Order: sequence, then C-alpha cells, then structure tokens
Amino acid sequence: MRLEQTVFGLSFRNPVLLAAGTCGFGREVAEVIDLSAVGGLVTKSVTLEPRAGNPSPRVAGVDGGMMNSIGLTNPGAPAVRHDVLPWLEANLSGTPVFVSVAGHSPEEYAEIVSLLDDGPGFQAWELNLSCPNDTRLGGQPFALDPEAAAGVTARVRGLTDRPLVAKLAPNAPDLAAVVKAVEEAGADGFTLVNTMPGLALDPLTGRPALGAGVGGVSGPAIRAMGVRAVWTASQVTDLPLVGVGGIAGGGDAVQYLRAGASLVQVGSASFWDPRSEGRVRKELARLGRQMGLSSVDELTGKVEGLAG
Ligand SMILES: Cc1cc2nc3c(=O)[nH]c(=O)nc-3n(C[C@H](O)[C@H](O)[C@H](O)COP(=O)(O)O)c2cc1C
Repeated sequence: MRLEQTVFGLSFRNPVLLAAGTCGFGREVAEVIDLSAVGGLVTKSVTLEPRAGNPSPRVAGVDGGMMNSIGLTNPGAPAVRHDVLPWLEANLSGTPVFVSVAGHSPEEYAEIVSLLDDGPGFQAWELNLSCPNDTRLGGQPFALDPEAAAGVTARVRGLTDRPLVAKLAPNAPDLAAVVKAVEEAGADGFTLVNTMPGLALDPLTGRPALGAGVGGVSGPAIRAMGVRAVWTASQVTDLPLVGVGGIAGGGDAVQYLRAGASLVQVGSASFWDPRSEGRVRKELARLGRQMGLSSVDELTGKVEGLAG
C-alpha cells in the first residue's frame, strides 16, 4: 500500500508524524529516531518568552498512559528564530515540519507568527489552542470555547500564507461548534486531540503526583476520546484532520484514519519506545495490504454502521 500523501498542499512520505512536545525541536531526538523516515514533525510549542516550565515531577505514570505538566518549556520565539529554524533547515529537508505556537492572548500568537513566518526550516503552523489564556476565559484553554478559539485563528490568519492547523481539546463542551467557528476564522485543518485534564493523588499523603498538581493525561487511556473527537469534527468540516491520542500501533492509526483523519501523530508512545513511530508506520502498511488497499487515503472516513 502506498503511504505517500499530499495534505495541506504538502507532500508527506507517510501519514505518521511526531506529536508536539514529544520530539522537542527534532534535534533532541535525532540520535534515536530516524527523522528522514518520519512522516513529519510538530515542534514543542513555542511561546513569546522563554519558559522554564513547571515544578518537578513533570511526568507521572497513570493506568493506560501518563500525565504531564511540563509547562511549555521552550527557549522562546526569538531563540527559535535564530537557533532552531536554521537547524531544521539544515537537517530536515524533505520532512514536513509544523511549528507549534502557544500564547496567553491572540496578540501573543500573532507576535510569534510575525517573528517566525519568514524564517527557514518549516512548512506549516500548528496553533496549540489548548493552553491556558489570560484574557477571556479565566485561565481556561481557548479550545474550549468557539469564540475564543476563532479569535486566535482569525488574528493569525492574516499574517501567514502557510497552512494553519488548529489543535483542539478532547474536553470541549461543544467540539463541533469550535470546529465550525475556527474553520470560519480561516484555519486550513485541525489536529485532534491534546491531552485530557487529570489529577493523580498519592492515596496516603494526598499529595498530587505532579509538581504542578493537575496535568494532562495522554496515551492509550485517551485514544477512544481522540477517535471520537476526529469523527465528530469530520461530521462538520471537509478540511483535513490530523488524529492524535494514544496511537501506539498500526491498528490505532487505522482507527483515526477511518474516523476521518488524513494524517496521524504519535506522542507519548515515543517515550516508552522511541521506535513507536516506525512500528506504527510499518503496521499501518501491513494492515493496508491485508485490506487490499493501494493507497492509505482510501481509509480516510471509512466508518461502517455509525450514524452521523
Ligand atoms: C510530555 C508531553 C509534552 C507535550 N507538549 C505539548 C506541546 O508543547 N504542545 C502541544 O500542542 N501538545 C503537547 N503535548 C500533547 C501531545 O502532542 C498529544 O496531543 C497528546 O499527548 C496526545 O497524544 P499521545 O496520547 O499520543 O501522547 C505534550 C504531550 C506530552 C506527553
């Protein structure tokens, strides 16, 4: 089965990408993951100012996955412009790179995009709308609210001609409304989903497992929520969808593709096995052959017996 795809006007050698925050800026994993074989890479979210991150511990194991409260540790947009983008240009030609952007306000997103948009080494944007904001929702992520998510997207849309992919949250009360509002605001597609909010407590002391208290749950525990989110989005938009959440094998990727995704991302699975992305890709090809498909895009949206 052919794995090559053209999505967002970009050529992907295969549909399995590395998810934001789980592969640094590429450089950090280049020794353990063959970046010339991956379908693509999404960078750690970039904020305007450097962020040191949250108190440790920043990760903890939970049943079926893990929790993190990294706190968007990154060197800040100016350092990314001068240090990271040239590395990506020199080392990742042929591998589509999405720069992930996070901020507290639409203006912060706009400043980051303005600073980086004429830089080298990347092809597209992923707007991380699932981080806390100061201005509208009292610290809740933009992605929970149609108007807030659309506000960020609209603010950035006029500043770039690159594909703009909005990353949404699994716990939006009305995900379909968010998708419709963000499409209207000019997004070119959606990544679904970010982590699910969670809290793990030590039963004896009552202390949270994470230094920051609450965190985001990822891994197989959230896969069914992610697949449902992709399917929900596919019912209200024709824009390309990127599925992420709990993908650790080829069958997981097939579920996301069938639910409506054109591309998928592997996140936490890379932490317990850095070869996860390669395994997902090979198993996906094998399953495709088993199903008699000639091209991976024949899977997208192929759900049976589920009413819209
Ligand atoms: C340690 C860690 C750091 C993450 N950092 C980011 C980030 O910077 N930006 C972002 O949009 N998502 C971030 N994520 C979320 C992942 O990209 C992904 O959406 C989520 O983990 C679900 O996929 P998974 O179950 O395959 O891990 C992070 C996840 C983990 C586990």
